[in-house]
Amino acid sequence: MATISTSNSTPIPFFVLIFLILTTFITLTFASESSSYEEKEPFVGVNIGTDISNILSPQNLVSFLTQQKITHIRLYDANPNILEALSGSNIRVIISVPNNQLLGLGSSNITSSSWIHKNVVVFYPKTLITGISVGDEILTTVPSLSTLLLPAIQGLYNALVSSNLHKKIIISTPHAASIIQNPFPPSQAFFNQTLSSVIIPLLNFLSRTGSPLMLNLYPYYVFMQNKGLVPIENSLFKPLLPNKEMVDPNTLLHYSNVLDAMIDAAYFSMKNLNFTDVVVLVTETGWPSKGDSKEPYATKENADTYNSNLIKRVFDRSGTPLHPEITSSVYIYELFNEDLRSPPVSEANWGLFYGNATPTYLLHVSEIGTFMANDTTNQTYCVAVDGADSKTLQAALDWACGPGRVNCSEIQPGESCYQPNNVKSHASYAFDSYYQTQGKGPGACDFKGLGMITTSDPNLLWSSSATRVAVIVVDGNWLLPHYPQ
Ligand SMILES: *[C@@H]1O[C@H](CO)[C@@H](O)[C@H](O)[C@H]1NC(C)=O
Ligand SMILES: *[C@@H]1O[C@H](CO)[C@@H](O)[C@H](O)[C@H]1NC(C)=O
Ligand SMILES: *[C@@H]1O[C@H](CO)[C@@H](O)[C@H](O)[C@H]1NC(C)=O
Ligand SMILES: *[C@@H]1O[C@H](CO)[C@@H](O)[C@H](O)[C@H]1NC(C)=O
Ligand SMILES: *[C@@H]1O[C@H](CO)[C@@H](O)[C@H](O)[C@H]1NC(C)=O
Ligand SMILES: *[C@@H]1O[C@H](CO)[C@@H](O)[C@H](O)[C@H]1NC(C)=O
Repeated sequence: MATISTSNSTPIPFFVLIFLILTTFITLTFASESSSYEEKEPFVGVNIGTDISNILSPQNLVSFLTQQKITHIRLYDANPNILEALSGSNIRVIISVPNNQLLGLGSSNITSSSWIHKNVVVFYPKTLITGISVGDEILTTVPSLSTLLLPAIQGLYNALVSSNLHKKIIISTPHAASIIQNPFPPSQAFFNQTLSSVIIPLLNFLSRTGSPLMLNLYPYYVFMQNKGLVPIENSLFKPLLPNKEMVDPNTLLHYSNVLDAMIDAAYFSMKNLNFTDVVVLVTETGWPSKGDSKEPYATKENADTYNSNLIKRVFDRSGTPLHPEITSSVYIYELFNEDLRSPPVSEANWGLFYGNATPTYLLHVSEIGTFMANDTTNQTYCVAVDGADSKTLQAALDWACGPGRVNCSEIQPGESCYQPNNVKSHASYAFDSYYQTQGKGPGACDFKGLGMITTSDPNLLWSSSATRVAVIVVDGNWLLPHYPQ
């Protein structure tokens, strides 16, 4: 979880731009596509923590996810009510074994079998469980459980094999970035050798089963712990002049952002142990939008910049400098602000949304057509043109509410879209309803020249309806979440 500081605090000579003569080219070759890791396209998912005072019901949570076009989520447990509510949806879920269940699982195959039965078999495949993350940052937070980690993973895997689900569901365990030492420059990174007795067998397992190395990677903490050495721009994926990029002196690879460097540090660390066929899955990354006086960089603007650029980066599919052919999927930490979390203030402010599903800040991901919105770039609406004669407009409105079969009850006196009470806004309401129900087909916004297609959401006019869920629409290049006042 985000509480864990994820970087050792070694200074980073890396950012001193050193251009050395290329000495070694390190090339990793990846074995063919992993067998059981079925996702082929990189995706952006979200983590759902639940320390929230007014959490949505499981049903409302699933409708919200669907409306926001969120297709991948990760839970910190295997909450049966949420798993049940996800049934029949297209949302893919990674479930988790909480740390406190590791002891039981690591010591008994029977416990593993019953865990898989209770939390996976009874829900699958109606609920699309795609992965199991076993424990959370065990090696760094509860090292006493380290020796149980692989037995637990192996036991759960065996149970999946028995149910013939091992090709559908991956198993791995998320690590803090701090298991990797000397991450900058990436070519000099290696796994903390004290952990080798766990890491090596784990990598063997991941390699054998085609499962990813799960990592929680927080450029935010790297930045906070190395202030002055890591520029904020690199942490936030902001465009950099080429001479400001970090250059790995051993590979001459140019890094324009910290996350890529962290991912490549993991690939180099694995390569040092001769593992070249395990891909990195970023199980957590994000940026807090609010902090206390010691956390001045936890702002909405930075959180927006980080997460928006992160999303674009995944959909760009440009991989990392070392592996341009592999784009890691990421799970944003996190979907909701967890207001019940203890200080520092940032802990309760990692969410894209407040617990009641209103957005925390404005993401700007307009190039991306499929994430975090009912519709994004191509969301269009039909409204009445400016300056139309009100009698002609009334006639068109009457047509829409009559033969056009638009349900116009919301624009009747006293109803939630009656105000503003003028023929133009009533016509816009009816035109847009018609246009949407016609699937935005050709001619569906004609109304004898009185209708006009726009990307500005006319629903803003009537945003008093308390049940309207946040929608993100395009206004120029920016996505503006609109929600009930
Ligand atoms: C968003 O999309 C969902 C599913 O298509 C739909 O039910 C909902 O009404 C939409 N929300 C808005 C505000 O348009
Ligand atoms: C679980 O079963 C495997 C193989 O069946 C065995 O090797 C392993 O020792 C068992 N683990 C425990 C904790 O009993
Ligand atoms: C490496 O791991 C050991 C065991 O968990 C820990 O005590 C040590 O501090 C770690 N070393 C570094 C440099 O993080
Ligand atoms: C990796 O492979 C090389 C060459 O085969 C070998 O020399 C080296 O000892 C191996 N390293 C590890 C950690 O197994
Ligand atoms: C948007 O719509 C246009 C025209 O219908 C289409 O060519 C384009 O591919 C769409 N873009 C996205 C991101 O869906
Ligand atoms: C029209 O919408 C209202 C509420 O918006 C709803 O109560 C009513 O059932 C709808 N009528 C029809 C015919 O769908």
